[in-house]
Amino acid sequence: MMDKPADAVDNPTTIAASPAAASVVKNQLQPEDAAIHGWYRFVLGYPPHLVREYLHRLGADPERDWVCDPFCGTATTPVEARLHGFTTISTDANPIALLATHVKLAWDIDLEVVRCRLDDVLELAEACLDHVGLANRSDNLQQLTLFSPQRVRRTTPTIQRYVEQFNPDELLPPTMAALIPKGFISPKPLLRVLALRFAIETMGGDAIITDFMRLALANVIVTTAGNVGFGPEVYRLPPRDDADVLGAFARMIQRMIDDVNTIRGRHRAPFPPAHVYHDDARLLSSLAQCPPIGIVITSPPYPNEKDYTRSTRLESVLLGLLKTRHDVRALKEHLLRSNSRNVFAGDDDDTYIADIPTIRQVAEEIETQRVKLGKTSGFERLYHRVTRLYFGGMYRHFAALFPKLRPGARCAYVVGDQMSFFRVHIRTAHLLADVAHKVGYTVEGIELWRTRRSTVTGNDLAEYVLILRRP
Ligand SMILES: C[S@@+](CC[C@H](N)C(=O)[O-])C[C@H]1O[C@@H](n2cnc3c(N)ncnc32)[C@H](O)[C@@H]1O
Repeated sequence: MMDKPADAVDNPTTIAASPAAASVVKNQLQPEDAAIHGWYRFVLGYPPHLVREYLHRLGADPERDWVCDPFCGTATTPVEARLHGFTTISTDANPIALLATHVKLAWDIDLEVVRCRLDDVLELAEACLDHVGLANRSDNLQQLTLFSPQRVRRTTPTIQRYVEQFNPDELLPPTMAALIPKGFISPKPLLRVLALRFAIETMGGDAIITDFMRLALANVIVTTAGNVGFGPEVYRLPPRDDADVLGAFARMIQRMIDDVNTIRGRHRAPFPPAHVYHDDARLLSSLAQCPPIGIVITSPPYPNEKDYTRSTRLESVLLGLLKTRHDVRALKEHLLRSNSRNVFAGDDDDTYIADIPTIRQVAEEIETQRVKLGKTSGFERLYHRVTRLYFGGMYRHFAALFPKLRPGARCAYVVGDQMSFFRVHIRTAHLLADVAHKVGYTVEGIELWRTRRSTVTGNDLAEYVLILRRP
């Protein structure tokens, strides 16, 4: 048996609560933080004030430290760290997360071009919808004139030529539509979304202008067009027959423009550099050239049945970021094995942690429970294996990150306890402490961040911040 790391905290009663742990608003985006952060968020993302708190607690210094988030999701860490003057470096394997991160850090974007492009996009989208017999909802019209109150509908020959190229079946062929869970979007809002996507792509321009609009559309797909809710897993809501998709899009773009102006009013350009890479956090090859990192604030997935590719599927497919089953599989292969839907035959991340007794014990307990309960489905049989693969993947991540850190660098990993697998308690932060110790990190502490109600058991589960240091 491997010895327990001397510096690992193994008794939850000795865990310190972070100073803000008493706050009851810990899970929410605070109104003063809505600018930029609110453009598109994961329900399981952490709030910006966590980043502020840990920049302070880890002693981060903008003159010295690059701040890294290797599982950046919707960019909470890089946006907040940059607001505090830090150069940031972010990676994620999910294309929708990368889109969100790129756009949320595009503070130099030419807003005049965005405004002009918006008029063109709305005009073309309206014309396309007219063409397929889906007239605009009346409440759109007021919104559509947001930027050009005098705008007169003019279906120019160019617009007309484009309209004839609008083919919803080409934008969303049946093979692609099949990737979207049934009932997640109704036919009319879907058509409106496709007309907008077509208009955004057709009106072209710089990649960042197009991406800015695509992120606004991602927001509208989730909040206005789709029949989806999050709790925290994505679920289907009663279908809506139609929705004001174009109006919501125009309002979203206006909000994004206002936010960029607010940021520019508060922070003087040039803004600190912000690097964003598509990468697997178990490899981190994109960090090869970057100077040593001083601070990491991040939240990897937790070992539970949450499937990030499903909770972001609707907008990923409708924006054309995922087109085939092969794309979905390729994405899953680059993610940590955190749920039984993304385990593959050749997976061997578990070999890296085979000698850590605490992980072996919890995996064995899960399998024993399965047998005891007589559970025999293919997914249930994988629960113990997912658990091992998850911690093995995190071993690879910690090992890949270690040489990119400067000596003395400090890292905060936000991770929650889980009970998704036959209610066996997985103390994620504590087990990750054992994994990080094996890689060579010093475990400085495990701090209670917040508790969350488990949708499986109804119990409150603790979420911790695991603090590591590269010696
Ligand atoms: C809990 S979310 C991060 C949320 C983020 N802190 C925020 O505030 O939005 C975890 C992220 O890890 C990403 N991820 C999972 N496995 C990964 C891997 N092997 N490499 C890179 N990113 C990965 C997922 O795509 C997801 O965006």
